[in-house]
Amino acid sequence: MQCVRILVAVLLMGSVLATERQEPSLAQHFADHFTIGMGVDVADLRDPAVWDLVLHHAAIITVENSMKPSPIQREPGQFSFARANRVVDAARNAGLKVHGHTLVWHRQTPDWMHVDAQDERIDRDQALERLHRHISTVMGHYRGRVESWDVINEVLADAPGDEDMRTDAPWYEIIGPDYVEQVFLMAAEADPDALLFYNDYNLETEPKRSRALRLVERVRAAGGRIDGIGIQAHLQIDTPSIEDIEASIRAFADAGLKVYITELDVSVHPWRQPGSELLPEDRGYEDGLSEETAQRLAQRYADLFALFVRHSDVIERVTFWNTHDGRSWLNYFPVQDRVDHPLLFDRQLQPKPAFSAVMEVLDR
Ligand code: XIL
Repeated sequence: MQCVRILVAVLLMGSVLATERQEPSLAQHFADHFTIGMGVDVADLRDPAVWDLVLHHAAIITVENSMKPSPIQREPGQFSFARANRVVDAARNAGLKVHGHTLVWHRQTPDWMHVDAQDERIDRDQALERLHRHISTVMGHYRGRVESWDVINEVLADAPGDEDMRTDAPWYEIIGPDYVEQVFLMAAEADPDALLFYNDYNLETEPKRSRALRLVERVRAAGGRIDGIGIQAHLQIDTPSIEDIEASIRAFADAGLKVYITELDVSVHPWRQPGSELLPEDRGYEDGLSEETAQRLAQRYADLFALFVRHSDVIERVTFWNTHDGRSWLNYFPVQDRVDHPLLFDRQLQPKPAFSAVMEVLDR
């Protein structure tokens, strides 16, 4: 019996040692400035080494996919919380917080939400009723466990023009532009204690910086509550400039908003139209980054974190979109089968030069 006990103890010790990370924790290192987060899902939970990386470096998580409208209400009125709950419970049991993502979006939303039994488009009132049911059920389910929400994601148009909003989104087509105000009113009612965010990409530059500010004004004018802006921050090594990102942080702060960096990654590739054909250069770093690119990535991350630290009175959170390079969505978006290296940890989960560069920002 004693032998078995010793054996079990040795095995347990071995597994703890095998997964113990050597480098200092990002979350602890930046704790006086902002909360560090990671976008994770059940795949990360299943891999003990990846989950260990999450627990070591993050103090908050965002559920990458399992809380979006499609997985959560795939069939009318049938809510499936099981997958998202696994991640939420594992994170909370380990003392991490959870940011909710996302209640309303034009993507990853089931087709049935916009049509009736005859497959005809529903009308405005029916659409608002469906949004209300979705928002109140999901926020109600997570009340007290999810402290902040991306209430609505990516409603702004990208191209310069007269129209601020993305006009080909089904909710826009059915309800009209004020669906944004409506969902913020619904969210505030569903969980009065949760912090409510608008989340989007390209907010670092115009036209979306000003468009986001006008959106906030509209929500406020309608009596809605909006606590902050989520700057997704899907960035490249060279663009956008630090000055542009800083101008947006300042503009949002001046409007009385909290700022979260919600989905940070830095692609080593140039931006391409989604669905573009795979080119040889897309797999150019298949065997790893060149020394030169690894250094440019490290410098970019250092510049970004120096900026975030300078504005840590308004930036409360910095969340990375995913855990390590092998798990990044940029390996399949915007180009399928691309090989990207956008995070601080490589495919072996080891810290890259960009990790040290980020940590050294506080020594300056
Ligand atoms: C991405 C996920 O990472 C992918 O796994 C999924 O296939 C598509 O969505 N902006 C967002 C996130 O708000 O929800 C997206 O996440 C990345 C862009």
